[in-house]
This record gives sequence, C-alpha cells and structure tokens, in this order.
Amino acid sequence: MGKIKILEPEVAQKIAAGEVIERPFSVVKELVENSLDAGATEIRVEIVDGGKKLIRVIDNGSGLSQEDVLLCFERHATSKISRAEDLERIATLGFRGEALASIDAVSKLVLKTSEGTGGIKVEREGGRLLRFSEGAYPRGTSIEVRDLFFNLPVRRKFLRSAQSELALIARYLTLVALAFPEISFSLSHGERQLLNCPGVKTRKERFYQLFGRQALERMLELDLKEGDYQITGFLSRPPKGLPDKQRQVYYVNFRPVRDRTLAAAVQQATKGWYEKDTYPEIYFFLTLPCSEVDVNVHPAKAEVRFRDSLRIFQLAVTSIDDALKRESQAKAVSFGQKFSELKNVKTMEIREEARKERPILPEERGIIDLEKETPLSREEKEIWKRGRLATEEERKEKVCDRGWQVLGQYLNFYIIVIDKEGLLIIDQHNAHERVLYEKYLDLDRQRRFNRRQSLFPLILELSPAEMIRFEENKVFLEEFGFELENLGGRSLLLRSFPDFLEDEEARQIFLAFLGEAEVAPSPELRPRFLATMACKTAIKAGVALTLEKMEYLVNELFQCEHPWLCPHGRPTALRLSLESIEKGLGRS
Ligand SMILES: Nc1ncnc2c1ncn2[C@@H]1O[C@H](COP(=O)(O)OP(=O)(O)OP(=O)(O)O)[C@@H](O)[C@H]1O
Ligand SMILES: [Mg+2]
Repeated sequence: MGKIKILEPEVAQKIAAGEVIERPFSVVKELVENSLDAGATEIRVEIVDGGKKLIRVIDNGSGLSQEDVLLCFERHATSKISRAEDLERIATLGFRGEALASIDAVSKLVLKTSEGTGGIKVEREGGRLLRFSEGAYPRGTSIEVRDLFFNLPVRRKFLRSAQSELALIARYLTLVALAFPEISFSLSHGERQLLNCPGVKTRKERFYQLFGRQALERMLELDLKEGDYQITGFLSRPPKGLPDKQRQVYYVNFRPVRDRTLAAAVQQATKGWYEKDTYPEIYFFLTLPCSEVDVNVHPAKAEVRFRDSLRIFQLAVTSIDDALKRESQAKAVSFGQKFSELKNVKTMEIREEARKERPILPEERGIIDLEKETPLSREEKEIWKRGRLATEEERKEKVCDRGWQVLGQYLNFYIIVIDKEGLLIIDQHNAHERVLYEKYLDLDRQRRFNRRQSLFPLILELSPAEMIRFEENKVFLEEFGFELENLGGRSLLLRSFPDFLEDEEARQIFLAFLGEAEVAPSPELRPRFLATMACKTAIKAGVALTLEKMEYLVNELFQCEHPWLCPHGRPTALRLSLESIEKGLGRS
C-alpha cells in the first residue's frame, strides 16, 4: 500500500516555497532528512568530487513501496502531512513533498529501495523516468545523485571547489550526527573515510566521537526541564571563547536552525563571561511540543517560529545561567566571574568598583610576570622584561618629547592618555592588536616567520570539517611555521609554530583558523590569518598593566601606519577633545 499522496493545492500553497536545491550540501541534507524520517538506524553518505560528480545516501529505513516510488518524484508528494492542520504540528524533518522532485529535476538519479522483501530500482534523468525494474535489495533506500545541475550549466559553474563543497557537507553531517547519537553515520569522499560514528547511547558519547576528548573536557553541560520543554547541550567553559560564532549551533526538535531568539538568549546569558571579542562554543538543543513551533517559515527549513518566544528566551537564559553558575561555584574565583561582575553591573556600580580598585603602588609595578603576560616578539619581550620604571624626570622629558602622557588605566581595560588636543581613551586589546598586526605584516613581507617546537606534545583532535580545511591549507600554514603531523584519523600533532608564540596561543590560532567558514583560498586569507594571530597574542582586556607597559604600548601604537583601527576594523581609541570637555563643563 502506498503512503505518499499529492497534497491538495490549497495545502501546497501554504508551504513556504523557494529554492530547495542550491548545492551538493542541500542534496545531502534533504536525502539524510528523508532517511531519518524513514526511521533509519544507519545512514551512509558517499561523495565523489565534493558531490558534484556523485552523492549517494544509503539507509536501512522503511523503504518505499512500488506505488510510492512512482509518486515520490512528483511535486507536493509526501507521506508526512495531508491536511492544512498538519502544518501546525510537524513532527518530521520533511513535510513539503518538494525535495525529491527538486533533486530529480537537476540530476541523473538512481533509486533502489525495498520494504524488506524484493525491491525496485528506478533510473531517472532531468526529471524523466528512464528505466524501472524489480530486484532484490536489503531493506532501506539508496539514492544516487550524479552530475548535479548537468542541465543547468550556469548553476554548475557557480559551485565552489570540491573541497569547499565537501566542507559544507562534512559540517552538516557532523551537526546532524550530534543530534541523533543512536544512529550510525558515515561519510566518505572517494576512497577516504571522513566520518564514522557507530550508534551510541548518549549525546555525550557522540560528542566525544565527533570532536574528541579535549573538546568534551572544555564543555559544560546544559540541562533544564520545564514541563514539555527541555534544554540540553554543551557550552564551552569560560573565559576562553572563539573569534566568531561559527560554533554556535541551535537545534529545535533535533533540527539545526538559525534562530534570533536563541542567539539573543545566548548572547545575554554569556555576556561578560568570555574574553572580549570572543564567543562561546555552544550546541544548544531545545525540544518542545510540535504544536509550539512553526517549521513552515523558510524554504530550506532552516528557520522556525515559536509560539511563545519570550518563554523560550527566558528558559534558554536560565539554562545557560545555571550551567555557568554551577561552573563558577566549582571554581571559587575565576577570571570569567570577575569579568562578568565588572561588565554586568550598572554604571554607578562600575564606578564604585573602579574606586575600590587599588592603584598599583610604585613598588609593586613590574612584579607581574612580564614574559608570561605579554606574548610579544622576542625583542619586545626583552624590553618588557627589564621592568624598570622610568623616573619622574625621565617621564617629564618624555611628555615634552612625545607630546603625550599616560595617566593610568581604567577598569584594567582602557589606557587614559593626554596630549595637546585633549584626552584619549585607548582600548588596550584593540591597540595591541593593531601594533602586533603591523609587526606580523612586516614579518610576513620579509618571510621571516622563524619556527620553534612546542615544549610539550600538542595533540589536537579535529572535527571532519576542520580536517578538510586543514588539508586544503597545509602549505599555507607551513609558510607561517605551523607544521603538523597526521597521527591517523583526525588527530594531529602540532610540531612547530612561529617562535614568538606560546604553546597555547599556537593551538588557539590554529583552531581559530580551521573554524573559519570560508574555505576557498582568497587574497583575504593572509591578512585575516595575521589578524587572528594578532588577536590571540594581544593583551587581553581586564589585565592590569604597569605604567611602563602602557607607555610602551601607546608609543608603539602611535608609530603604526594605521593607529586608529584594529585589524578587524574596530576603533583603538576614543578622543575627548579639550574643546568638547570645556563645552560639556560649560567653560566655553
Ligand atoms: N529514504 C527514504 N525512505 C523512505 N521513504 C522515503 C525516503 N525518501 C523519501 N521517501 C518518501 O518520499 C516522499 C517524498 O520525499 P521528499 O523528500 O520529496 O518530501 P518530504 O520529505 O515529504 O518533504 P520535504 O520536501 O520537506 O523533504 C516522502 O514523504 C517519503 O514518503
Ligand atoms: Mg524530504
């Protein structure tokens, strides 16, 4: 008996329509979703040439009957909904009856399927049936999609390199595998196996399979239940974050989605916990009754709408707050905690806090471990290591010579400087980023990235997408002194890196680079990499600086080619001109 029906036009019209198949990744996504909806416990994805030549998805799900095979390539043919009301409570990943029709129209497709006995094979091309035959196949469905967009050459031309397309596919499969731990997933590209995760019981085990032990150890777990609503997932421990939001992933009823409510909740709840300009890594799972969420809002099913988004927002904030609080209780005083106390209190309280901050006494200056704290080039480290403070005399001289003077540090974030024109409030992190960026540019121009070995073996476990990006950029990374040895699987040994980096910095820079979305080599790649390097090695906001350090930094900043912007385009300093000060105080 066939399960698939063609939707009535009134129902079909209510479905968010649009571009369904844009690239190989969209084919994989649709086919894997179908396998999941068919109750498969094992899903294999095989790719050739980034999916441009071949995509094959094999599952052990329910299979299709003969009637269904004849209907499934029609538009609006689905077994998942039948009436308009069904759109109000969608419990499956698919519901539009669009995906197979759209894939079929732009490829050469072979489907083999069986419900347990016998089986059927159909061969199609550009939306037309070529052959239909009976055969004996194992229970489940295998769909082979060859030469995507063979009949739309312009579209085909716009596809990216095989590696880029593959990276998107690998990222998607990693995310979907995290959502369904009990299901086995594998991904191979030609001869190479990129992912192989046998089914496991818990999501924690799946996380371990996908990202490795170190990544799991960095994570806090989210766990909140309120009625029919449940939040689970992983949040990276503060205060170290990532340079972008690539690894903030939201799932609503196991479907990875983009969502503003959840993103806003994460932003609010994590504010102040992570180092400046860094973002936590988060895999956030929300499950709720299907009637509470509308998935029929985006043609690629990539967004949802909540009936009660305020409730979702509050629950999400609470779940993250709880996890962070548990962590801070476990770790009596952490940098993250202090940081958040400072950032979250109102202005008055900040002033209170600032007043309480004891100035650094002259005899205390220079006691901070300069070498550890200031990840600078060797020659700079020498200067910082001397730790001797300028005498009053020397300082006065400097003011006259240079035309500026450092007054001090505010909140351990900003350096306050005066010059002839007024006051300058310098952001210590942004300023240092600019200084280092220009130094690195210089080193790069002279091809002078000396390398050194790490003190301890630095072993990194990569996700499949990171592994692809690494392989694509191996030579590029070597130019900067990053040498890695493949230990098998997705484990790498970071052998050497630029000599001015600490081990941990090198690790962070490497991972930040691999985490970036853009895969294709572009002219931007070099400056962006140098900017990441500058960001990771610059002094952090929240670090107390001696006067000598501040003077050194300000002096270096003023000698930069572009002192007023950090390499990411944010201002390094804010000016309060004497004129505006006087005006504000009613003196002019
Ligand atoms: N791997 C599979 N195993 C069993 N049945 C399948 C499989 N793939 C597709 N089908 C059947 O074919 C139908 C059409 O699939 P298609 O992906 O086009 O639409 P859909 O999944 O219902 O909705 P959507 O367009 O949102 O994906 C499905 O409703 C399902 O009944
Ligand atoms: Mg589908």
